[in-house]
Amino acid sequence: MGRTLLLAALLLAPLLGGATPLRIGAFNAQRLGGGKAARDDVREALGRIIARCDIMVLQEVLDAKGQVVPLLLKALDSTVGPGTYQTLSSPPLGRGSYQERYVYFYRPGRAQLRDWFVYEDAHPERPDVFAREPFVTLFGLPSTALPELVLVPLHAVPGAAEAEIDALHDVYERVRERWGQQDVLFLGDFNAGCSYVAASRWGQIRLRRDPPFHWLLGDDGDSTVRASTRCPYDRVVVAGERSQSLVVPGSARAFNFTARFGLTEEQALAVSDHYPVEVELALDRAWRGPWHPPPALLLLLGLGGALLGLP
Ligand SMILES: *[C@@H]1O[C@H](CO)[C@@H](O)[C@H](O)[C@H]1NC(C)=O
Repeated sequence: MGRTLLLAALLLAPLLGGATPLRIGAFNAQRLGGGKAARDDVREALGRIIARCDIMVLQEVLDAKGQVVPLLLKALDSTVGPGTYQTLSSPPLGRGSYQERYVYFYRPGRAQLRDWFVYEDAHPERPDVFAREPFVTLFGLPSTALPELVLVPLHAVPGAAEAEIDALHDVYERVRERWGQQDVLFLGDFNAGCSYVAASRWGQIRLRRDPPFHWLLGDDGDSTVRASTRCPYDRVVVAGERSQSLVVPGSARAFNFTARFGLTEEQALAVSDHYPVEVELALDRAWRGPWHPPPALLLLLGLGGALLGLP
């Protein structure tokens, strides 16, 4: 009977195939340069954090010498297999000599990079809002429910968080003009809380106020590592009926790697003072109406029941 169950599970697996949701994350890796990425403990933790996700956008990568990405790829190659991840780095972005990159790690077997651009920060009414302009990407997904998805990462400057979050609305308009896409995920360290965005200001922020945008992580969250702070800095916001309908309920969260990896606060802070934020999309879900099991699945369930002698 145990064997029959195993057989049934094996037979069913392909029918439920594609059932693993797509996990997308963003992580402020706090001044991640070559020296930091060369530390074994840090690199191992970063590798495990990236490997959780099909697409992960690192922020605050300070990689003047181009060492960070090769070090992380090497770590990933040895843990999850060579070639599992590909990367895409933005140019260095920032107003002065201090510049950061956004770096995407993605599994080409799960998401195909189609196009990208650095947002041209020259809106006639709001020129030069962003210190680190969003590095926008278009991914093709193996899904009839959601064939394409746009990602808009942002690492906002704390003192300008409100204006930068608001201006993501302009980025959304640009994405729609350029690619005709409505399904957009905004993610990253928006510095969206505590002293940087007062609760009374949310009503003025278009990305928060306007109907197409759904904030998956609430204002009472905490994406900071330090026990002494409680701030919902890092966020995930989804626009588009299709992508919104595919969000796995309860999957949007700050990933507490202190707890998951069994680290002390000090060990965790060596990696970052932020937690990554992530969300899962159920790509195989039909995007309208409830799920109906395919007839072949019903047949097999019936067959399985008959084999087990069930009525
Ligand atoms: C993360 O986990 C640690 C260890 O279990 C805990 O002390 C801390 O409060 C958690 N932080 C958040 C933001 O959940």
